[in-house]
Amino acid sequence: IINNCTVIRASFLHFINDPAKIENIEESYQYIADGLLVIEDGKVKLLTDFTEEKAESYPVIEDKRGQLIMPGFIDTHIHYPQSEIIASYGEQLLEWLETYTFPTEKQFSDKDYADEIAQFFINELLKNGTTSALVFGTVHPESVDAVFEEAQKIDMRLIAGKVMMDRNAPDYLLDTAQSSYDQSKALIEKWHNKGRLQYAITPRFAPTSTPEQLALAGKLKAEYPDTYVQTHLSENKDEIAWVKSLFPEREGYLDVYQHYGLTGDKSIFAHSIHLTDKEWASMSETKSVIAFCPTSNLFLGSGLFNLEKADNNDIRVGLATDVGGGTSFSALQTLSEAYKILQLQGQNLSVFKGLYMATLGSAESLSIDHKVGNFAVGKEADFISLNWAATDLQQLRMKNAKNLQDKLFALMMLGDERNIQSTYVAGKLVYSAA
Ligand code: GUN
Ligand code: ZN
Repeated sequence: IINNCTVIRASFLHFINDPAKIENIEESYQYIADGLLVIEDGKVKLLTDFTEEKAESYPVIEDKRGQLIMPGFIDTHIHYPQSEIIASYGEQLLEWLETYTFPTEKQFSDKDYADEIAQFFINELLKNGTTSALVFGTVHPESVDAVFEEAQKIDMRLIAGKVMMDRNAPDYLLDTAQSSYDQSKALIEKWHNKGRLQYAITPRFAPTSTPEQLALAGKLKAEYPDTYVQTHLSENKDEIAWVKSLFPEREGYLDVYQHYGLTGDKSIFAHSIHLTDKEWASMSETKSVIAFCPTSNLFLGSGLFNLEKADNNDIRVGLATDVGGGTSFSALQTLSEAYKILQLQGQNLSVFKGLYMATLGSAESLSIDHKVGNFAVGKEADFISLNWAATDLQQLRMKNAKNLQDKLFALMMLGDERNIQSTYVAGKLVYSAA
């Protein structure tokens, strides 16, 4: 008899490989219709088929038969301060920033306000089955303290950073090159690798940083090579033209980041929709990462991301909601829109590729796949249980499902937070529906 452990009986699905990179798609995942998951000290100890014999070793088994257990979803790009402006009408990127985003972010100079929204935000992630995220704060260092403190309460794996922005935004949101460097450095010293928390150096995007600020961001990355870089890249045509006019001496948008030492295997570029062939090649050479933000790209009318091209160039792509440009916290809803974006380009998104992207694929893109992303023995036990059908319509569709793939596909296309029954972080139950 093993003490200090949680044992759950359910159906299980997790990924071993990228379905796009393996000849036989069946070898990319493991599905156990009736299985046992054993968690000890917050880590995966065992995942196996259920047998009466094996079950005898465990005194208490939580019975979740009828539910599907998967690794928690990982969101590779999201702005927690924008939670309250989700679904704001009528604008594309640059006007949307001016009209809605900047005024909202102003409020995060108030630590109490930041605490309140950080609490809402973390709870919303958990309700949606998201157990890790790469998160933008605002320009205010307090905003980053607030979200890290909230994640720390439940030992959640979170990466976040203070926005660096010293031009082309309202005065009330500007730092300076030097203050952004000093504040980011202090936050790295305070939070990076503290438990499961990690820091991301966060220049908002090229247009809101002076060359001096980008140079200091690069200096900071060189001083702390283990930290992340997160920013935006080639989201919108007007944005790209603006970058050209602000940095005429650079070859293009990505070259601005490249020039200041901000590309690399822990650099995550949100969107990356309108890349040139040279930029695709450069993303690949530098092992840089893309955060694919389907609901945001459609909502802001930004464009259609070319996943096939990223795969062909061997570029890691994580799934991302990009709330508040994105319109949902749900990885399932996000995948549903991803499917449609690829349809419009004559590409396909199998449910296996989709659910891989939301879990192991995003873990790989954040270089945390040695810690989370599937149920390999020893990994941190971040996982969720789902209802196959949470609505009458889902129920009707599931009854008609032909096989596992079809059932999962219907779940991906129709599912949302109503399908999430429980969420576990580091082996502990942190959310339970009703
Ligand atoms: N580019 C610069 N800032 C932002 C932001 O807050 N959201 C999105 N979607 N794109 C950006
Ligand atoms: Zn964003």
